[in-house]
This record gives sequence, C-alpha cells and structure tokens, in this order.
Amino acid sequence: MATTFRAAARRIAVGVLLVMSGVLPVLPALTAPLPPIQTDGARVFQQHCQSCHEPATGRAPNRRILAFHPREDVIRSLTSGVMASLAGGLTADDIRAVAVYLTPLESSAAAAAVGTDRMCADSPPIHPGPSDWASLGQDDPARRFQPHPGLGAGDVARLKVKWSFAMSGGGQPTVVGDWLFITNRSGRFYALDAATGCVHWVVSGVGSRTTPMIVRSKVSPSGWATYIGADGRVLRAFDAQTGRELWKSPVLETHPIAMLTGTPTVSGDSIFVPVSSLEEAAGSQPAYPCCSFRGSIVAVSAATGRILWQTHVIDEPLRPTHINAVGTQLQGPAGGGVWSAPTADLKRGLIYVGTGDSYTDAPTTGADAVLAIDMVSGAVRWKRQVTPGDNWVVGCNDREKSTNCPRREGPDYDFGASPVLMTLASGRQILAAGQKSGLVYGFNPDTGALLWTTRVGTGSFLGGVEWGLAFDGRRLYAANADTGELFDEGLRVQGRSLDGWISPGPARPGLSALDPLSGAILWQTPAPVADCHYFGDRSLDFAPGVCVRAQSAAPSAMPGVVFSGTLDGWLRAYDSASGRILWAFSTTATTYDTVNGVRGQPGGGIDGLSTTIADGRVYVMSGFNGGSSTGGNGTNVLLAFSPDGQ
Ligand code: HEC
Repeated sequence: MATTFRAAARRIAVGVLLVMSGVLPVLPALTAPLPPIQTDGARVFQQHCQSCHEPATGRAPNRRILAFHPREDVIRSLTSGVMASLAGGLTADDIRAVAVYLTPLESSAAAAAVGTDRMCADSPPIHPGPSDWASLGQDDPARRFQPHPGLGAGDVARLKVKWSFAMSGGGQPTVVGDWLFITNRSGRFYALDAATGCVHWVVSGVGSRTTPMIVRSKVSPSGWATYIGADGRVLRAFDAQTGRELWKSPVLETHPIAMLTGTPTVSGDSIFVPVSSLEEAAGSQPAYPCCSFRGSIVAVSAATGRILWQTHVIDEPLRPTHINAVGTQLQGPAGGGVWSAPTADLKRGLIYVGTGDSYTDAPTTGADAVLAIDMVSGAVRWKRQVTPGDNWVVGCNDREKSTNCPRREGPDYDFGASPVLMTLASGRQILAAGQKSGLVYGFNPDTGALLWTTRVGTGSFLGGVEWGLAFDGRRLYAANADTGELFDEGLRVQGRSLDGWISPGPARPGLSALDPLSGAILWQTPAPVADCHYFGDRSLDFAPGVCVRAQSAAPSAMPGVVFSGTLDGWLRAYDSASGRILWAFSTTATTYDTVNGVRGQPGGGIDGLSTTIADGRVYVMSGFNGGSSTGGNGTNVLLAFSPDGQ
C-alpha cells in the first residue's frame, strides 16, 4: 500500500532481474560500478543486510540507491529509524562501517541535498486564515478539498515556481497562515515561511514520514501544537510556534517490526495513530516465523501523550500454521497494516480506516477491509472486508516463490489511502474508499453496507488507487496508477516483460470523476504521454529507459480545479466539470537553485500524498518520500507555485 507503491517498484525489480538473467541480454550498467566488497562494512552488509537489499526485495532500496543517501541518514535509519529493528545486535562500529560502505558517494549529491538552512529574520506569531490546509486530508472527512484557495480557476494557467527547497525525501506539507510545516527523510522537521521558504525553526534528529497536523492547544505555550509519528513507534508533540517538544508518548506498539507510516489524525482531545509494519518484507526470510504483526489504531491523549486504547484490525487468535521448508514454525493470521490517516466522523463519533493485505494462509476478516471504530471506546462498530484471502508477502510474485509465501496467494490489494466521508447536496452521507485493485467503493457509513463499486483502472499489487481520493461536494476524484502495467508495457517495447507478475490488462493511468451517489463515472482523462525528463531512480538498473506516467499520487481539489501529479514528474490542473487539462508543468524538465542553497536540485516523480493548496499558493513535493525508485534518494525538492510566481 502506501507500502504499495514504494513496495511495488522493488518487488518488480526482483522480477526484472530474474528475467534479465534468463534468455534476454543483460543491459549495460548505467552508472559507474560500486567499489568491490572488501571492508568490514561489506562483511556486515553481507551478513545482515544483503538478503533484502541485493537484489532488493519488497520496498527495500538496492545498494545503488542507498549510495545516494546521505551517510548520516543511513546511520540514523539503523540506530533509531526504520531499520533499527533489523539492525539489533550490531555495534556502533558495525553500523558506522556498513554506512560508510553503503555511501561511497558521500560528500557529493546526497549530502549536498540537505542544504543550509536560511533562518527567517523574524517569526511573527501563527495567525490562522480561511485558506489554511492544517491537516493531511484538509478537514475531518479527509476531502482533500480547499474551499478558499486564495486563487481562482482562471489563475491556474499562470502558476509558476515561487520558491523551492531541497531535501532528501519529504512528505506533504501543512500550512497555517504564513507558516508551512513538513518532515523529511534527513530527520528534520521544519517550520518554514510559506511566502519565502526561510526557516522559522527546525528540529533535527526526528525520523518521521508523517504530515504534521496543526491544531489549537491548551497545553502548548503558544496555543498551537503539532504531532508527528516518529521513529521508535512513538508520537511526539511540539509547540508549533517554537518547535519546543511538549511530550513524547510511550512506545505505541510492541511488535518489533511495527512502524508508523500513516499520518496521525487529531480530533477533539484525541489523536488516532495508524500502525503499519515491515513484516511483509521480513516475512519473506526463511528463518522468520511469519507472521504475527496486526495493523492497529492507537488512540492517544492530545494533552499528555498517554495511550487511551489500541484496537487491532485482526481479532482472530494467533495460532501456529505449518512448518516451512527450512523448519521454521509459521503462524497467523497476520497483516492488515494501516498505512493511511484515519478519517474522523464527529457526528457518529467514529473513525474510519482502510487496511492492507493478509500475510499468511490463516483466514482473517480484518485485511483489505474498511473499519468504523468508536472514537471513545475503540470498539469496532462495523467491518467490511472487500477482498478475502488476499494472502501475500514479499517474494510471492517471483517465479521461485519465497519459502514463506502463502499456499493460496492473493493479489496484494491493500487499502493504502484514507477513506473520504462525502456529504451530498441532499445531506446524505456516503463513505468512499479506493483500493489497489483499481476499484472505488461507496459504503453506508452507519452500517458498512456496500452501496456501489466502480472500476477506474486495471489494478495490481502496484496499481489502482494508491494514495487517495478527493471530494469537492459534487464529484469524487480518483487517480489511478496501474504502475505495474505501465512498467510491463515499457519493457515489452524493449523485448522484455513482467510476465506472471501482474494481472493481465491494459494500463489505464489517469484521473476519473465519479458521481458520489451512484459511483457512475462522469469523466475520465488518461494520463498524457508527455515529454519525459524523469525515468525513475538515478540508478536506472531496473526498467531502464521506461518512463512511467502512473497517476498514483493523491489528488487535491479547489473550486473548479483538481490537481493531480504523475510519476514522470508532471503536475497538472484539471477542470473539475470536464476533466480538461488547464495547466501542466514538468517538475523535472529543469533543475532548481533552492532557498536552502542547493544548486541544480533535480526533483523526481510525483507520488504519495502530494499537493497542498493554501492562501494563493500550491505546494508539491517533486521526488517521492519512499526508499524506492521514484526519487526518494536525495533529489527531492519542495516547490511553491503562485500565479506568475509572485
Ligand atoms: C528483512 C529485510 C531487510 C533487512 C535484513 C534489512 N533491510 Fe534495510 N530495508 C528493508 C526495507 C523493506 C526497507 C524500506 C523501508 C521503508 O521504506 O518503509 C529498507 C530500508 C533501508 C534503508 C532506507 C531507510 C530510510 O529511512 O529511507 C536503509 C539505509 C537500509 N534499509 C539499510 C539496511 C542495512 C544497512 C541493513 C543491514 C544492517 C538492512 N537495511 C537490513 C528491508 C531490510
């Protein structure tokens, strides 16, 4: 899911390598060879890392991609970040050695991308405005709709870059008044000036992939607080005006491979934190007792960080299943990672969450499901599974299945995107959810009954609706990725393919508008085949020369206009009534001299949670936030657009 997509590319990479080593000619390496294995760091890598990273499995970046990471990022990842659970037992010297080994390019591009912070001359207090975008989904129902954008539909054709800010990976920003908030891959949590990109404050050493939600708070000295899901599976609260830490929660989930990927949703006095994991990757290792992780929501007090309740989406008891080929006792059911921000329904007192696939043969009703959970008690009000038996771990797409691959395999159709609570003109409410299958569903929010199902794409483990939907009160907008099918099409031109890896079917990337009541498609605009300036990761050792126009990023709407980006680096504005493209900009056709002093920053694919619209400006991250081949490797640039760049 969220994993999905990052995941996708790596999973495919393994397949491509297999194909390449067979009948087909091996393509020449497109980058200089990395140094031979001869150091201590190399030994650590071989013993502890190589099984997942070379060739890369799951979402794991391969060694060439890691070479572009700042060295300090690699060390942080192993000491406190996502890899800490897998690096247990390594000494500080081992970690240093393997980081040095993995980053031979240190001092060049990767380190440079971190930039030099230019502090603002003054930091006037946060003043909220009608045009804020203070949470990931913009409002409680997660509509991703800005009703007061501060620019008109007629202005979008004049959008130009006003400022740019380089970083190594980064997510979607929030904006309140003149303040912009964003976390990034270098462990920096920034409050920037939204007009110029100067830095109000920066907190370093904060590993987080979540979007900071900005709320009024009685416990924060300035009256404004912000919360992020951080490394070590903790939630951290800061004063949004000063960056001073208010509290740190206890560890929210004890499963050793769990992590916080989706953005925590603040509603009233509580924060609802979605929990995901790396077990889909670890589960592919023969010695790993696959699998025991279950996705959950943890409710935390916004005032103190105390845990109020935790509800796991899988409630069937954990039991031994069978013994695998190397003698490891396997177990289940497991899976159902929650990769996206919960959606709040204040009227019903519920939060809605979408869940990921199942990892084992043991049946469960909690995977690939939408759940309604009581905000106060954590009780599950209803649960609707749409794809039963979707059992999958990394390595199941290979011709040679990984040992722990479930006997009955599913298609890996997670819900990776937040559901959207739609209020129609009649006052009626319908809950919409989009899945990697390429299907969008409408549910009755009272009962979970399925009202309609609409296909917007072909769908695969790498396809369909990846990151989100947007709703403007009249139409529901769904971007469809079909990344797997696109890679396949591109490879076929080169005489290769992803045969057996993806469901047969044409790639149908594009943006669709749906009628919220019936789910009927009102218009569909295919992703244009456009000048390609971005062909995926710089290492290019997988699908070289294939330009992927997957429309996987979450769309964002304002009156009359929908913004939606593609993996080949284009951001477009669509007329919301007709689907006509009003404006298109290739974020990778040029490079950027950024306000934090990086020259020639290239950007990358547009993916993930994407565009924020606030106070006359449109913000987008060029380059992805994942460790994947879509640009999460030191090339990212946050772009602020305004009419004529004014
Ligand atoms: C069981 C499989 C597995 C093993 C073993 C493993 N990794 Fe990873 N690694 C992954 C996956 C999967 C990701 C992607 C995580 C994500 O993006 O959510 C990853 C990501 C990373 C990243 C990028 C993290 C970031 O924040 O972008 C680094 C650096 C890394 N691994 C280094 C290592 C090193 C060094 C070792 C050995 C000490 C190691 N890994 C062992 C699976 C593994």
